[in-house]
Amino acid sequence: MAMESCTMTKKLEVHFILIPLMSAGHVLPIVDLAKLLGRRNNVKVTIMTTPVNAVRVGANIDREIQCCGSSISVQPFRFPSVEAGLPEGCESSEAVPCPDLMYNFAKATTMLQKPVEEALEKIVIPTIPTCFILDKNLPFLFDVAKKFKVPIIISDALNCFSLLCNHNLFHSKVYENVSESESFVVPGLPHRIVFKKYQLQEYFSMNVGEFNVLREKVWQNEGEAFGVLVNSFQELEEEYVKEFTRLTGHKVYCVGPLSLVNKEHKDKAQRGKLDSKEEEEEGEYLRWLDSWPATSVIFANLGSLTFVPPGQVMEIILGLEASKRPFIWVLIMRDAHKRKELNKLLKEDGVEERVKGRGLIIRGWVPQILILSHTAIGAFLTHCGWNSTLEGITSGVPLITFPLTAEQFYNEKVAVQLLETGVRVGVEKAMHFEVEDKSGIQVRREKVKEAIEKVMGEEDEESKRIRERAGNYREKANKAMEKGGSSYLNLSLMIEDIKQHFRRRVEDDDSKSEP
Ligand SMILES: *[C@@H]1O[C@H](CO)[C@@H](O)[C@H](O)[C@H]1NC(C)=O
Ligand SMILES: *[C@@H]1O[C@H](CO)[C@@H](O)[C@H](O)[C@H]1NC(C)=O
Ligand SMILES: *[C@@H]1O[C@H](CO)[C@@H](O)[C@H](O)[C@H]1NC(C)=O
Repeated sequence: MAMESCTMTKKLEVHFILIPLMSAGHVLPIVDLAKLLGRRNNVKVTIMTTPVNAVRVGANIDREIQCCGSSISVQPFRFPSVEAGLPEGCESSEAVPCPDLMYNFAKATTMLQKPVEEALEKIVIPTIPTCFILDKNLPFLFDVAKKFKVPIIISDALNCFSLLCNHNLFHSKVYENVSESESFVVPGLPHRIVFKKYQLQEYFSMNVGEFNVLREKVWQNEGEAFGVLVNSFQELEEEYVKEFTRLTGHKVYCVGPLSLVNKEHKDKAQRGKLDSKEEEEEGEYLRWLDSWPATSVIFANLGSLTFVPPGQVMEIILGLEASKRPFIWVLIMRDAHKRKELNKLLKEDGVEERVKGRGLIIRGWVPQILILSHTAIGAFLTHCGWNSTLEGITSGVPLITFPLTAEQFYNEKVAVQLLETGVRVGVEKAMHFEVEDKSGIQVRREKVKEAIEKVMGEEDEESKRIRERAGNYREKANKAMEKGGSSYLNLSLMIEDIKQHFRRRVEDDDSKSEP
């Protein structure tokens, strides 16, 4: 009751409407952003998403409203699953039952204009300055937002390093006349960054109808947006932020690491959780970690291994075994056919029995931030999704990099070459979904073991330096988010810029109406 009257008396000055892509890696940071914005004075936030996702974020937002009295609401819109050839209720990329249907999922995201417009009609857009924060991967919603004649800030799931790489690749076309496995330097970067074509993001090497249409639209929108919002922080990649800003002329707001908004244990535990049945198991994992010395345990989570051959998965676990160190492996094989094959391989080999007590294989969701921030964790074997990479950096843990797809090879460069807080296992070639079966086994168990030693070795001087640098980034990340830190200030600037934009528009309108 008290809370309600508090929000009612609030004088709201600016309204942000947030629309994330329907995928855990995108929804979670946007929920974090909503919380950050909601904690600032006089800011109203609306998250728009599909009914299933709305339920998922609801509990999290309710808790935030209770604790901070923030003015955040969730407005659902219909997702055209069935029209796009997806099963009913399939409203996020994780729920897509098989790889072939990813095209249908992409297609559904191009059909959202009407549902979103209908939902927007239900929100009384207040007469205060308003701004849309739109996921870059929903480019067709730009036209909807434009109708309201309010500024649009693009939320990009990439960091500035990846944004600048893509920008320079796109404009130089250096990848055009090289073969798949030839090395080339990305032009115009502060560091000498070498890639092979099959490590680039899909759209540089693939030509797939629906995705291509999306890509064109994305580039076009970027030029028209008011600004770009990045889940990163100035101190992490300063030169790249500057250069990307200079080249594009965008306002680039680095406001992360967004996951640091979750200070409470409950929030950390709940982040990204799909249901609440695993609560007991969670306690169990943490108790298990309590039983190990500081920085002794490897945490391995390669996200969903949909496109990784089971034989390769086996090599990773045998590498973990060979390290003779305690480990947690989160093993998610969504493809039923491959899951069967992998389980057969695991059984035949008997590795799970052999590592019992020392190795924990978890087949399902885990509270990643809680685990990463546990003192027992000494290294993070990651697929280098930016979400996870940043969580690793923020926890001060050295990274063992095993990129799979998307821009994950770029993030590997950030960890290994820019920050020097990571070591690569040695994956050469992206496992995008169309090349999966041709990719075979790229990395043997020995390489996995070697990489683990390079970051965890007790005696090795370079290992020590890696760990020390990793620890320093934890401090830098936390500082950036504190009051007065660079990310804190960038968020303040963003809010001020939106207000300013409206003041100027009102003045313009006034001067026009004078005779
Ligand atoms: C992002 O991180 C959360 C843990 O904080 C995890 O549950 C989620 O699956 C991650 N998403 C992706 C796409 O990696
Ligand atoms: C690639 O080759 C084509 C045809 O020879 C040429 O027109 C194009 O300029 C080349 N691109 C680059 C980046 O060198
Ligand atoms: C973000 O903060 C940095 C460092 O304080 C500053 O240099 C930069 O201009 C800010 N970005 C924007 C878009 O205002």
